[in-house]
Amino acid sequence: MIRTFPIQTPRLYLRQFAVQDAARAYDNWMSDGDVTEFLSWETHRSREESERTIKNWVLSYEFGTMDWCITLLKQKQEPIGSITAVQDFPDKGYCELGYCISKDHWGKGYMTEAVKAVTGFIFQNTDYTWIQARCDSENHGSRRCLEKCNYKHAADLDLPCAKRKGEIRTYSMMRIDRRDTVMI
Ligand SMILES: CC(C)(COP(=O)(O)OP(=O)(O)OC[C@H]1O[C@@H](n2cnc3c(N)ncnc32)[C@H](O)[C@@H]1OP(=O)(O)O)[C@@H](O)C(=O)NCCC(=O)NCCS
Repeated sequence: MIRTFPIQTPRLYLRQFAVQDAARAYDNWMSDGDVTEFLSWETHRSREESERTIKNWVLSYEFGTMDWCITLLKQKQEPIGSITAVQDFPDKGYCELGYCISKDHWGKGYMTEAVKAVTGFIFQNTDYTWIQARCDSENHGSRRCLEKCNYKHAADLDLPCAKRKGEIRTYSMMRIDRRDTVMI
């Protein structure tokens, strides 16, 4: 079962990752501490680390994972970010979005475009009734992006952050319900 089918938006092309993307993914965002500041994973220290991560994503596609490589429509070979639907609790009827894009491409509306497209794709191609995304309460860009995609604030949760040695952080839980997607 494959779920990561290509998605085209006005300016982006979302496609499956290939192992060959690893070096550019490392250079473009996986090695950048500003990109990973609010993410759960540590900044990558080598191209091999990025290659291992991407290899796992590629091997998992056949099990129905959703891990898209974000590229510009004009330059489909160059990976500039990722957007993933984590399906930890599929029988509870939802999945959770995670995403990041290289710093060179921040503030151009690209992630809003990607999140809208992936949200629509998930509701069209799965039975999930809602999609969740969580952002650190200081990650204002991510929250704003989700709001622009019609995600609503559902709750704030104080949770320990493993990457910050268990420091308690406040996370804004954002969600969109299938019935609200007519607005997208
Ligand atoms: C958060 C992130 C995904 C936003 O992507 P982006 O492509 O720059 O977002 P967009 O250009 O679509 O902007 C969406 C909105 O957020 C606003 N925004 C973006 N960055 C912002 C920031 N740092 N502070 C405040 N607002 C910000 C934009 O201005 C826009 O709102 P507007 O149209 O009302 O002006 C990107 O900065 C990123 O990859 N950050 C690092 C990884 C990360 O934090 N991922 C999310 C984890 S929950």
